[in-house]
Amino acid sequence: MIYLSGLVACLLVLTTEAKVGNSSQGSFCSETNQCLLFNLECQTNKYEVRHYESVKLVSTNVTSRLMEVAMIPLFKRLYNYITGENKDDKNIEMTAPVLIKIPEKGFYEKGVFTMSFILPAEHQMNPPEPTCKDVYIEEMKEMRVYVESYGGWISTLSDCWHSYTLSSAVNSVNAKYNTEFHYSVGYNSLMSLTNRHNEVWFVVEGDPVCSSSE
Ligand SMILES: *[C@@H]1O[C@H](CO)[C@@H](O)[C@H](O)[C@H]1NC(C)=O
Ligand SMILES: *[C@@H]1O[C@H](CO)[C@@H](O)[C@H](O)[C@H]1NC(C)=O
Repeated sequence: MIYLSGLVACLLVLTTEAKVGNSSQGSFCSETNQCLLFNLECQTNKYEVRHYESVKLVSTNVTSRLMEVAMIPLFKRLYNYITGENKDDKNIEMTAPVLIKIPEKGFYEKGVFTMSFILPAEHQMNPPEPTCKDVYIEEMKEMRVYVESYGGWISTLSDCWHSYTLSSAVNSVNAKYNTEFHYSVGYNSLMSLTNRHNEVWFVVEGDPVCSSSE
């Protein structure tokens, strides 16, 4: 019985670690010790299909017209959370990637932008509670995503262009995805000048399609 509960505890630890882990596993996730892990399910010359396990995030929302404007308070609140603005006064290690949920909206319309940091493996079970009322812990549901990668910096323009090319690629094979929002995903600090890696994610609906139109 004791052995069995030990085994169960081990398995629990292993499953937690399987979601967020050692960054040596991802070549483009090179600036933090821990990264969000995934399974690559298939890939075409235009996009990848990845599977992510459910994982706990710390998130915050800002209503704005422009991502560039929203990003400043979004990042500041989450940075404050990981540097001690939490009930346990804990310093929490930075992980990658940083997720920004972007509403599909007209350029001049306001929308809710949500930024999230992935909680490191040691805080997945019991995340320290945020003290700022605008910061909250949430669970990202298990999901598959269509992914397009690009270099350089994330901006409204680059994000818009790559979500357009990704939507063209997946639309051309009649793939279904959530059209209310997409994720804009960054792996590097603003200070890094080389080997920058960013992504656009669409959340897959139904069975993922992995064939190219050519
Ligand atoms: C990650 O893996 C490398 C090589 O296996 C190891 O040296 C390093 O200590 C690991 N880091 C963490 C945070 O587990
Ligand atoms: C944050 O925004 C999302 C929409 O992206 C909404 O579903 C959620 O309720 C908001 N949460 C808070 C705490 O404002």
